Amino acid sequence: MITLMHISCTEDRPRAANAHVADELHAGLNAPDAWISPKFLYDALGSKLFEAICELPEYYPTRTEAAIFARHGAEIARVAGLGSTLVDLGAGNCAKAASLFPLLQPAQYVAVDISTEFLCDALERLRQRFPQIDMEALGMDFSSRFELPPQVHAARRLFFYPGSSIGNFTPDEAHGFLRRLRAQCGDDGGVLIGVDLAKDKATLDAAYDDALGVTAAFNLNVLRHVNHLVGADFDIRAWRHHGFYNAARGRVEMHLEAVRRQEVHWNCGGQACARVFEPGDCIHTENSYKYQQADAIALLERSGFEATRVWTDPQRWFAVIHAQAIH
Ligand code: AVJ
Repeated sequence: MITLMHISCTEDRPRAANAHVADELHAGLNAPDAWISPKFLYDALGSKLFEAICELPEYYPTRTEAAIFARHGAEIARVAGLGSTLVDLGAGNCAKAASLFPLLQPAQYVAVDISTEFLCDALERLRQRFPQIDMEALGMDFSSRFELPPQVHAARRLFFYPGSSIGNFTPDEAHGFLRRLRAQCGDDGGVLIGVDLAKDKATLDAAYDDALGVTAAFNLNVLRHVNHLVGADFDIRAWRHHGFYNAARGRVEMHLEAVRRQEVHWNCGGQACARVFEPGDCIHTENSYKYQQADAIALLERSGFEATRVWTDPQRWFAVIHAQAIH
């Protein structure tokens, strides 16, 4: 644990020394169908590019979810309850949670994100705006294992998982993840989760391949981050972005396609590794599953949570669901 001075901001492991990161990247780069986990999209620049995506006219999820919170915030707070331990998963700039503070009045706010530096900057600013709220920042990857440290209050944990980040997991992985959340909250806990709903392909294609190319930059930035993490030599200019809805699989996919033949090198546990990519070869970088409302509720129930209330927008593009732990 590294504790930064003045603000309480902890990182569970220094990134460069994290053998798991190198192993995971190595496995994906060497796989017959190459892949890079979407969590590596979020270094400091990646988090900023994602903030820019949220401003795009084509990227409807952030705006649609914000409208649901704006319209139903008071009721959401009544259902979710005041004075909770608010655990914000993938907090990023913490803006979504902060906008709910006046309504939810959390007893403690715990912001969790893999992009540690970006998170800590955001939390430091938030502390100045809300000095009365006890706040913790946890720089960690919560996608595969998840255990909250002792400074997180045990009572009335409300896991806040907005923005449809749950979509980055396959439904099976999402089930495992939600079960881990269930294990981390007592019988008085719950979740407040945002889920993007299935919709027409044109809307989804545009949201993940915008006219300005911000999503393309966000996707390509993963190669910069990988260059940094494992000393790889990806030439960013030799790759192009694809983002599209795969209706048969119920998910948006992002890929990077090699535009010319190239050999890429990286370090794997002290050894030099290499792979040749031919023109047209792709690296799969993200899935973003789109749910039917009923399927999302069923997934929560299989994971030990009972949906108490669902709020949607008039077009039914996005759902905010509160669910409480089943005893
Ligand atoms: C942060 C995972 C919810 O899947 O829509 C945005 C990430 N990828 N544009 C999503 C993303 C491309 C986003 N999540």
